[in-house]
Amino acid sequence: MNVLIAGQPVHHRTVTFDADRNAVRLIEQRRLPHQFRIVTTPDYRATARAIGEMIVRGAGAIGATAAYGLAQGARAFRGRDRKRFREAVKRTFQVIHAARPTAVDPLNAMTEVLAAMRPGETVEEQQALALAAAEEFAHRNVLECQAIGRHGARLIKPGMRILTHCNAGWLAFVDYGSATAPLYAAHARGRRFHVYCDETRPRSQGATLTAWELAQEGISHEIIVDNAAGHLMQRGEIDLVIVGSDRILGRTGEVANKIGTYTKAVLAARHGIPFYVAAPFSTLDWKLKSGRHIPIEERAPDEVLGAWGVSTTPGRRPPRPRRSSPAIYVRVANPTSTARNPGFDVTPPELITGIITPAGICRPGELPKR
Ligand code: MRU
Repeated sequence: MNVLIAGQPVHHRTVTFDADRNAVRLIEQRRLPHQFRIVTTPDYRATARAIGEMIVRGAGAIGATAAYGLAQGARAFRGRDRKRFREAVKRTFQVIHAARPTAVDPLNAMTEVLAAMRPGETVEEQQALALAAAEEFAHRNVLECQAIGRHGARLIKPGMRILTHCNAGWLAFVDYGSATAPLYAAHARGRRFHVYCDETRPRSQGATLTAWELAQEGISHEIIVDNAAGHLMQRGEIDLVIVGSDRILGRTGEVANKIGTYTKAVLAARHGIPFYVAAPFSTLDWKLKSGRHIPIEERAPDEVLGAWGVSTTPGRRPPRPRRSSPAIYVRVANPTSTARNPGFDVTPPELITGIITPAGICRPGELPKR
């Protein structure tokens, strides 16, 4: 999507690969919306760290990053010994896979890269196949998000007020996004509507990333605190909910997504508001039999106990930001308390009106197998 740089739109993808330097290029999402910056990860361990530290986040974006990271690790291998090469690739896979557990896209993406490497007879051939497969994954991610936009746009009627949670926008994918793709497609067709962005504590992806994306595109929106949705629904001020997903179980139709999604689904059902989930095929998990088996990431307590932001006090110099982030961290909670921080929850299929896939909109239990 386009980023306004000095007032001019410049096209950017969230994740790309620099083959000459064997490096992954990422938009530094922890700096947004205050600063737009691209970072490169010089080796697969740095790529895995970028996923774990949420420089790049969102299921599709970490899927593409993982695919590139695996190709990066494979391409860094020197020599012709295929056994040692296989071991190096396996190590790379494991390190990247351990970075974040809930989204299935990285696992699906790396499995695809490994399968594509198999026909290669030499190390060199396999290295080339790995990169081609990673590029193919990223490219397909873009096309699938565009298709989600085409199918989902028909749900968006002029004047609607739409709630979204967290960021399932282009920053969470390679481009376009899942939950936001129908919004972008409808907006491009001249439809006018209003979006409520859930703030999405503790990392505030809605307040920072989704709001920034919508502002860049000139789409009418407001940020609400996570607890405001019930009130707005009760007053008839929300017509539709669209969220993304980190893992959808093909067998059951259960949807793992950012913590708070389940709450919004319960509220939407209570108020008879359609609740849609948008996702590409890489988010489908056909192995797990129950949502209870989905690994739910538990993140650090400091995300709950405080917040990151920039100082807006005129004339006051903010404390020096840490080198890793322009924002300052402010402790909000009682100093002697600690916190519990599950990053995701699981919404059962009976609360979901439909899943917007690249092949069309379907019921959660009728997902197309690809
Ligand atoms: O922790 P994050 O920011 O990586 O989580 C991302 C989400 O849960 C998103 O909201 C999204 O719906 C899934 S990613 C497309």
